[in-house]
Amino acid sequence: MAEAEIGVIGLGTMGSNLALNIADNGYHVAVFNRTTSRTREFAETAGPLSDRVTACETLEAFVAAIKPPRPVIIMVKAGEPVDQQIAALRPLMQSNDILIDAGNANFRDTMRRFSELEGSGLTFIGMGVSGGEDGARNGPSIMVGGTEPAWRRVEPVLTAISAKYKGEPCAAWLGENGAGHFVKTIHNGIEYADMQMIAEVYGVMRDHLGMDAPSIAGVFSAWSTGPLDSYLIDITSEVLTAYDPKSGQPIVDVIVDAAGQKGTGRWSVIESQIMGVPATAIEAAVAARSLSAMREQRAVAQARFGLPEQSERREGQAVIEDLEKALLAGKVAAYAQGFAVMAAASDEFGWNLPMAEIARIWRAGCIIRSQFLDEIATAYAERPDTGNLVMTPSFATKIEATDGALRRVVSQAVLNGLPVPALASAVGYFDSYRRARGTANLVQAQRDFFGAHGFERLDEEGEHHGPW
Ligand code: 6PG
Repeated sequence: MAEAEIGVIGLGTMGSNLALNIADNGYHVAVFNRTTSRTREFAETAGPLSDRVTACETLEAFVAAIKPPRPVIIMVKAGEPVDQQIAALRPLMQSNDILIDAGNANFRDTMRRFSELEGSGLTFIGMGVSGGEDGARNGPSIMVGGTEPAWRRVEPVLTAISAKYKGEPCAAWLGENGAGHFVKTIHNGIEYADMQMIAEVYGVMRDHLGMDAPSIAGVFSAWSTGPLDSYLIDITSEVLTAYDPKSGQPIVDVIVDAAGQKGTGRWSVIESQIMGVPATAIEAAVAARSLSAMREQRAVAQARFGLPEQSERREGQAVIEDLEKALLAGKVAAYAQGFAVMAAASDEFGWNLPMAEIARIWRAGCIIRSQFLDEIATAYAERPDTGNLVMTPSFATKIEATDGALRRVVSQAVLNGLPVPALASAVGYFDSYRRARGTANLVQAQRDFFGAHGFERLDEEGEHHGPW
């Protein structure tokens, strides 16, 4: 008998935890995994929730277990596996059933899937989910793209399972077709920038100030009660206080310094470039991960060039306060850029993205959750059409209060050969953005010189050429 109200396909960590979260919230959920042993394992671990879980060993049984019209969450590896799963489900599903891709899909794939399913009678939703395993189990941030009527049909269950910020659900409909997955991609791009800047500040403390992991942890822990209060700062201090049971050393000191990446950061940069919106902090963070992966080349280069002597070391609380402010200033630049990219995409794809709402649903559940996002939500609620976050009164004040520290930290790091590409990108971005007369007049002259590309004059209308 069909009694499940919703289905989940893909019982990896995220899928299993989402299914348990759904059951925990009083919904009956049907589950299916391509590997049957995984489905059985999941059923065994469902414990007291098993009354509300129907574990199915075939796709046919899975579809039959859900009451029509069926909402089905697909949580499989992004890319080809999603297409395969949709193809397998299509002949079994009925008109009005809803397919929800909850993976980290490239929004361009999501747009394609929307067109492919058009006219099929099936409804499609592209849903960004953030919060890692814990979020999936206890409340993630949920970013939905699709039609508004489709969202209304799944809204009760999605708001029930989402994280809550002071009682407000962190789940929202953000726009048509690829809107949800696009916003999730930018969330991840910002996540990359946040993480990179934290790592750069850690590098200054470790390699310039000579601090050990527990002392650095103490600094992050103190910051977590100030303006940087966020999940990423919290976990950083936790990570830095963890010891490796094998070597007895702080675990960070035995971890290889080469960062992985699955694609969302890179997609953020690609899309920002396509739209011509600078996202320099995200670019720097993605590039830093790529450089981190070149371990052998880095070792050879260090052997060839050595490392600069650490000179002019400024000690004491003033330096730590500068680092805190520099991180805050860098964060403002990264978020301003991420939101500007979303604003451009909103125009480009006709999504009408609700900026304040996006900031609101990122306040809890997701990886970049923070107090800071509440301030962004307020800034956008007050000025929905703001062109750049840095121009809102509260963020302009924040920049003025932190700008000097950012400059001191970046210049000190540069003088001492410490890589701070994301923080430095924030200085460059801000200095370029706030300068009314830049230097592109020379670039235009060069373009005209070698390619007759023409330029505009300050004192006359029309296109002109130089006397070369
Ligand atoms: C989240 C995370 C999540 C995942 C990323 C990591 O919001 O919950 O961003 O989506 O951890 O895929 O991405 P990288 O492997 O590219 O760092």
